[in-house]
Amino acid sequence: MLGLIVYFFGLALCFILIIFAWSMIVFSFFGPPAVPTPSKIIKEVLKEISPQKDDFFIDLGSGTGRVVKTVVREYGVKGLGVEINPLFVWWARLTAKLGGLKNIEFKRENFFKTDFAKADIVFMYLLPKYLSKMAEKIEKEGKTGTIVVSQRFWIDGWEKYLIKEIKRKHNSTYIYQI
Ligand SMILES: C[S@@+](CC[C@H](N)C(=O)[O-])C[C@H]1O[C@@H](n2cnc3c(N)ncnc32)[C@H](O)[C@@H]1O
Repeated sequence: MLGLIVYFFGLALCFILIIFAWSMIVFSFFGPPAVPTPSKIIKEVLKEISPQKDDFFIDLGSGTGRVVKTVVREYGVKGLGVEINPLFVWWARLTAKLGGLKNIEFKRENFFKTDFAKADIVFMYLLPKYLSKMAEKIEKEGKTGTIVVSQRFWIDGWEKYLIKEIKRKHNSTYIYQI
């Protein structure tokens, strides 16, 4: 009897792993690019913008959630990650839970539908083709004073909002305040 249970448990586990691996392959080839921000850069940027406890932090395209998890863990802010890839969302939720993080949420959503009205800090590591459209949306819907961090790519036409550029050889960070 125990053998049968172990057998079915193993079979179910294999099935889940195959589905997981298959989805990862499909998303890697056909989904949007998902290069994460290196941990060292995340820490450097957070130190620069120095989030406060009652800030509401949003990462648009949060991937596996490392930026949001870091800022919630280290600065005690309220964090939201918005991500289109369901596997990343699942992983982000699981690891946040295992890490005992509170005040953190991961939503599976297209970031063009995200409501920014209450955001104090918006983080983005997005391709320039998404950035301009997103910048327009943030400018229209975001509140005055919101800090907008764009990792790697500057935002065209936002020179007036630029408060800091952290220069690196290929991976600079642009910090704006609207
Ligand atoms: C370059 S990764 C950045 C991940 C994370 N923010 C970081 O810095 O480590 C961009 C993420 O945006 C997600 N993405 C792309 N288009 C999206 C959309 N329309 N709505 C929500 N997420 C999207 C991708 O799946 C990917 O995980």
